[in-house]
Amino acid sequence: MAIRRLILLGAPGAGKGTQAQILEKHYAIPQISTGDMLRAAVKAGTPLGLEAKDFMAKGELVPDSLLMGLIQDRMQKEDTKNGWILDGFPRTPGQADHLDALLTRLEQNLDGVILIDVPEAILTERLVGRRTCGICKKVAHITFDPPEAEGCTASDGQHQWQQRPDDTLEVVPKRLAEYREKTEPLIAYYQEHDKLHTVDGSVNTNLVQVSLRELMG
Ligand code: AP5
Repeated sequence: MAIRRLILLGAPGAGKGTQAQILEKHYAIPQISTGDMLRAAVKAGTPLGLEAKDFMAKGELVPDSLLMGLIQDRMQKEDTKNGWILDGFPRTPGQADHLDALLTRLEQNLDGVILIDVPEAILTERLVGRRTCGICKKVAHITFDPPEAEGCTASDGQHQWQQRPDDTLEVVPKRLAEYREKTEPLIAYYQEHDKLHTVDGSVNTNLVQVSLRELMG
């Protein structure tokens, strides 16, 4: 069965966003990143952004209650009709329950959950070296995928590379601890529901993409 309604699961820095951006173009289904949505809310200074800001800066998950309305509104947009890629949601058992209930209401099935598996030793280097274009949101890495000046699709062509404030040696350990404590239990949850697939995320970006497409069909 083809997988078009899916969750990308994985630790911070596993490559969820990088892979989701490529899959989005290939399959013409939207990437839904709660991290991107929360960062946009922080930047715009909305009530949600003001509430989320401190949690994000400290590397902590924001409370489940702040995510529910956000994801519910996004999942009902027209572009989700043929599928969606959830990136960074759900992140706790409470969020997984909420998603199950929402999908029942929307009369949609979750086709699969793909864990991008990366040993923790690699993650810190990936996160600290990440750069993101502030305009088109393209992700690069100072060593593994060096940022190029040209090629921004949302402006005059010049990328504006930025480092995320939570991609520092001070904050990354907290994010990894939050993942281990609150998100890793979802691996067993989706395994029990017979939804879980795993790809090796420690190899290069192209090889990870090949494995994902093999699974997605
Ligand atoms: P979020 O933005 O979701 O961050 P994250 O889950 O920590 O994930 P990342 O974006 O850091 O990693 P990624 O797996 O996407 O890696 P990427 O592809 O960029 O969340 C941020 C914060 O928002 C959270 O801490 C929390 O506060 C809040 N939040 C968000 N969602 C929430 C929720 N549902 N509930 C509660 N709070 C929530 O890759 C990383 C780097 O590695 C890049 O530089 C990339 O170029 C490089 N790279 C990628 N793949 C490879 C490869 N195969 N080989 C070499 N380099 C690679």
